[in-house]
Amino acid sequence: MRIVLVGPPGAGKGTQAAFLAKNLSIPHISTGDLFRANISRQTELGKLAKSYMDAGNLVPDEVTIGMAKDRMEQSDAAGGFLLDGFPRNVSQAEALDEMLKDEGMKLDAVLDLEVPEDEVVKRIAGRRVCRKDSSHVFHVTYTPPKTEGVCDTCGGELYQRDDDSEETVRTRLEVYHTQTEPIIDYYKAQGLVVTISALGKVEDVTGRAMKALQRQE
Ligand code: AP5
Ligand code: ZN
Repeated sequence: MRIVLVGPPGAGKGTQAAFLAKNLSIPHISTGDLFRANISRQTELGKLAKSYMDAGNLVPDEVTIGMAKDRMEQSDAAGGFLLDGFPRNVSQAEALDEMLKDEGMKLDAVLDLEVPEDEVVKRIAGRRVCRKDSSHVFHVTYTPPKTEGVCDTCGGELYQRDDDSEETVRTRLEVYHTQTEPIIDYYKAQGLVVTISALGKVEDVTGRAMKALQRQE
């Protein structure tokens, strides 16, 4: 299946994407994780992205679209994929449609994770991610690691993301409402959107998501 995951910062996109990608045997492609990997390798792309990310703004489309395209080509889009954090505005959504059209493909579903803002703020405040791989995500009270400060998956050190400060989170939520939410209407017009509540236990949300996706197949 070819799936796009949308939802506000802290909704649990990365957390759900890990389980859904495994269940569906498709690659999880997160533009946020790709940028963070570039930042830790101190590449030119990482240096450029960091200034935008730390402020809570979107990295420019010219850079983001090229990076997403390269990553999708690497993983053979024909076999399916789960996009997390891309597209994030209408021009990225149009670019993705073009990319897929060129290959004779289209999306199967856009999974929209709904979470009230006060819950999102709690999830972000307690989030800790792994220095070695930012797709390894924990929460100090909701999903704590077995050993405090240590990643269960790879033993890496856990830290709080630079863009998880209160002020930056406020900007990220604003950017989500103004720039990202319009893609939901864009995809509704194509009949692709399935909305689920992302409240409750992680495994319950995964179950809800799997059911919703099966209906789109
Ligand atoms: P990105 O990394 O994509 O961040 P985001 O969209 O803000 O999403 P988050 O990673 O904050 O949250 P999430 O929904 O994945 O939640 P998580 O699973 O971690 O982007 C970061 C930045 O990169 C952007 O601001 C931008 O600058 C740039 N960028 C990225 N893509 C771009 C693009 N396409 N164009 C331009 N710029 C781009 O969960 C959150 C917490 O809650 C965790 O602690 C988790 O353990 C916990 N949790 C999860 N589920 C549950 C549950 N059910 N119950 C209790 N706790 C839960
Ligand atoms: Zn790790």
